Amino acid sequence: MISLNIEKTLGFISKENVFAYETQVKAAQEALENGTGKGNDFLGWLHLPSSITKEHLADLKATAQVLRENCEAVVVAGIGGSYLGARAVIEALSNSFAWLQDKKSGPVILYAGHNIGEDYLYELTEYLKDKKFGVINISKSGTTTETALAFRLLKKQCEDQRGKEMAKKVIVAVTDAKKGAARVTADNEGYKSFIIPDNVGGRFSVLTPVGLLPIAVAGFDIEKLVAGAAAMEKACGKDVPFAENPAAIYAATRNELYKNGKKIEILVNFNPKLHYVSEWWKQLYGESEGKENKGIFPASVDFSTDLHSMGQWIQEGERTIYETVISVEKTQYSLQVPSDEANLDGLNFLAGKHVDEVNKMAELGTQLAHVDGGVPNMRIVIPALNEESLGGLLYFFEKACGISGYLLGVNPFNQPGVEAYKKNMFALLNKPGYEEESKAIQARL
Ligand code: PA5
Repeated sequence: MISLNIEKTLGFISKENVFAYETQVKAAQEALENGTGKGNDFLGWLHLPSSITKEHLADLKATAQVLRENCEAVVVAGIGGSYLGARAVIEALSNSFAWLQDKKSGPVILYAGHNIGEDYLYELTEYLKDKKFGVINISKSGTTTETALAFRLLKKQCEDQRGKEMAKKVIVAVTDAKKGAARVTADNEGYKSFIIPDNVGGRFSVLTPVGLLPIAVAGFDIEKLVAGAAAMEKACGKDVPFAENPAAIYAATRNELYKNGKKIEILVNFNPKLHYVSEWWKQLYGESEGKENKGIFPASVDFSTDLHSMGQWIQEGERTIYETVISVEKTQYSLQVPSDEANLDGLNFLAGKHVDEVNKMAELGTQLAHVDGGVPNMRIVIPALNEESLGGLLYFFEKACGISGYLLGVNPFNQPGVEAYKKNMFALLNKPGYEEESKAIQARL
């Protein structure tokens, strides 16, 4: 189970003021439970962990097995909420060098549809040229340009390389039950497909097939992931007292920090495998709270790597930031620093220590230095990088995000601002139906 410690924010804000949010948090929790708050048609994530059935997981695992047996590589095509959750979990659990190993325990998982990089897509299609590959096409709307474009390329390549029959077996769609081009294609082609529930938005969808299918294809235990999330659903439930509810405390603390001029939250890890958890978290909080000219700016760093780039700014730059550190209690493997007779590097004082002991002291030293430098610090500890912990961590952040958005007074479940760039891009590309916008935008150039 994860734990949250806010002690090192208390020189900057008072515990009393954090606890003063108790009534508001209760109201936010009730609004979520009763569906009476803003965006109440997107609350399907709230009790998702405890409502996922064994049959659903078995169906996902069976489909994953088909891809694992028939593919050397599987491309997850999706953007934003339609890929970040899967990538966060897969990268956190995968061997960092799995990619380069000759003996692979399953298909290599690759990503597309999250950018419009011609070189990226070219290089991907080149890499796949001699591979038996499959595709998971993930799009709730089924019409997202980045994903649709990548899928068009990949579908053709898969059919050309593997034949129509095999392509049908190794292309899977995760999309809306009825709407969108991805649904139409899946139905017309006879692909196996999974539904993204109407009431679950992209950034809250990691525990739907959007996240679960790719995670299962990568060989990880989705039952344990869901069990970890379900345990956290309980721990963050509406009847858990404020002081014992990590989602409530996190939501209240960050809002109190924001009120006190701390406009930027930096999510910190000391484990490179958590990089994509931060990317997922940035979308969750950025898209949920950044509206109506309000919202904490979610940033992230990977330490100790970024202590050698962003460390200076964090230590001595403008004092508008606070940090939330995700600390992993136990490593998966054990590696000790060897002793060296010549000791030319002067590191014999570390001989016999585990590398993680050095990392933990970097973590503690950094926390103290940053607090001394005027940066409030919260700490989330997870026992290990495994499915249960990650499931719990993801749900904890989702629940806290729902509460926090309501404390801020915004609708945490919409993203109206995302449309602006799309409208301009379609106008510039002369998409049918955008004739007026095309004229208007051309006049501005
Ligand atoms: O959180 C969201 O709603 C977005 O990030 C979407 O997931 C993203 O834009 C992809 O949309 P779609 O799944 O419709 O392709």
